[in-house]
Amino acid sequence: MKIGLLGLGTVGAGAYEIIENGKGRLQEFYQEELTIERILVRNLDKKRPVEVPEDKLTTDAAKILDDPSIDVILSVMGGMEPAKSYILKALQNGKHVITSNKAVVAANLSLFLEEAAKSNVAFLFEGAVGGGIPIIKPLKQQRRLNQIEAIEGILNGTTNFILTQMMENDLEFDTVLADAQARGYAEADPSADIDGFDVQRKIAILSSLAYGQDIPTDKVYTRGIRSIRGMDTDYFKSKNLDVKLVASSAEQDGAVSIWVEPCLVDPSHRFYAIKNSDNVVSFIGHLSGRLDFVGAGAGMDPTANAVISDLMDILDNHYQADRIPLAVAENVGPTHASQDYYLRVDLLSCSKSEQTRLAKALLNLGLTNNQEIYQGMIEDIEASAMRALVSDVEKECGSIFYARRLRG
Ligand code: HSE
Repeated sequence: MKIGLLGLGTVGAGAYEIIENGKGRLQEFYQEELTIERILVRNLDKKRPVEVPEDKLTTDAAKILDDPSIDVILSVMGGMEPAKSYILKALQNGKHVITSNKAVVAANLSLFLEEAAKSNVAFLFEGAVGGGIPIIKPLKQQRRLNQIEAIEGILNGTTNFILTQMMENDLEFDTVLADAQARGYAEADPSADIDGFDVQRKIAILSSLAYGQDIPTDKVYTRGIRSIRGMDTDYFKSKNLDVKLVASSAEQDGAVSIWVEPCLVDPSHRFYAIKNSDNVVSFIGHLSGRLDFVGAGAGMDPTANAVISDLMDILDNHYQADRIPLAVAENVGPTHASQDYYLRVDLLSCSKSEQTRLAKALLNLGLTNNQEIYQGMIEDIEASAMRALVSDVEKECGSIFYARRLRG
């Protein structure tokens, strides 16, 4: 089987090592010869994470997409375009496509699945969610048996690494972000990680598959962790809580509630033990009950392992069962349930004219003032009221952080 590789970054290099350099056990189990025929790169002279013969590299996508001898495309390049056009072209040309690019999958899942069905080829994306955790395949399998009622998870290795390091080693946000980038966890533009958009895409993909609805990413209420500071983690430690960036969705009678927010968990919570770049995905089926999947959420080998598991499904001819019709999602929004929330506002970062009003309002909510840092838990407030409060405070103040208390 001949493979075309689009992109040679962290995941592409990991896939190359497995297929061409015998890293892993693939060749022991498959008699068929597997070769990476050609690799699309942007710049022929760039230094690569892996050594590759020069004659395999090309900057011309047509040399791969229009080559009839190539059966499978591994699209491991980031960004929307040209990734979307290349995937469509490959599917239309009758090639199986495997991708780890969650941005392009989240925005075009329905389209890609339809094109794949038309050409009777596979469109697989295990590496797009949860890094090395096999989650897409079990979810697709279980949804044929179970009604999936809810999904919950920690879906970003970079932010979980940052939060763990800040909590455990008293490190500052920027230092740990640089470390996550050096380890190959972070996206090329780390805003996707720290502002929550990477998680937004992942929970949209999982929820679309689980509930059979094409859930648009812009319907996912999303907060990131960019504004967390040492004064927040100090507070959490003093209360024996840990902080995680959590994604959640639930479906009832066709209505989907879905959100991404920093959350506080105590040591008895199943997410408390998920540290550093590990991820967890839980889903609840009406027959299976809750199923938890835990493992490395980012990094070269785990993500390449997930990408190659898709390749194995093609080799095993297991992809036929993947036809998933996605209905237009008509009723999608954030949750309205009442929760407890942590809030911290640095009053000196607020507009001068609003400081007196805000200080009074924050004290009324039960926050305490320590040298103009207002901080504490707001109990039993409706999620929509909390969102309104945060939006009011954020209009006036530069430095705030909030997190939902997660129970259960
Ligand atoms: N930047 C992503 C993360 C990579 O940190 O989880 C894996 O999707």
